Amino acid sequence: MSANFKNPHPLESDQVVVVRHPLVQHKLGLMRDKTTGTAVFRQLVNEVAMFLGYEATREVNLDVTRVETPLEAVDVPRLVGKKLVFASILRAGEGLLQGMIDLVPVARVAHVGLYRDPETLNAVEYYFKAPDDLGARKVIVLDPMLATGNSAIAALDRLKEAGAVDIVFVCLLAAPEGITALRDHHPDVKIITASIDEGLNDHGYIVPGLGDAGDRMFGTK
Ligand code: URA
Repeated sequence: MSANFKNPHPLESDQVVVVRHPLVQHKLGLMRDKTTGTAVFRQLVNEVAMFLGYEATREVNLDVTRVETPLEAVDVPRLVGKKLVFASILRAGEGLLQGMIDLVPVARVAHVGLYRDPETLNAVEYYFKAPDDLGARKVIVLDPMLATGNSAIAALDRLKEAGAVDIVFVCLLAAPEGITALRDHHPDVKIITASIDEGLNDHGYIVPGLGDAGDRMFGTK
């Protein structure tokens, strides 16, 4: 099997963006390698998060302000408008969070913790904490693996219930099944990913994928 990094995927659009920068694709290749250990994997997630964050913040607004260089006055761009919130879906979202914060240190952070009830299969919330003014902010939701899309959909439902309206979803890898489900439930949410993989296996893992992102970044297996 070959990871598709060259050709546009049929699901790509202006609302489903694959970041094809060579450094991102190189780093993702290293992350897929099962011999890559925890420390290096974590460092790579951090680095790729910055590239994905660069793409996710592409549309934030700039205004102009005047500064004095050592030589003369000049009008320079400055960020204005909606402030950012990074919303980490626990636990693997934490891996993407550090790179995002390195990029925008003043951003606020929300956390969404959900587990799937084994009997009802419904997503059950065990933790939720977000800034009060979510509706006034751009919310960048972080979860490395968009697999079935179930937890992403539940997290987006919850963030919208708390007031979020301007939302981007960022992941390292996406399965076509997860993209389709997320687009069906939340068509207003743009998806940014480093790859759209082949699909899901019988256990709901993305193939070829990179395994369990949480286990690989936290060394729990
Ligand atoms: N979560 C993971 O960590 N990996 C997958 O492949 C799917 C869901």
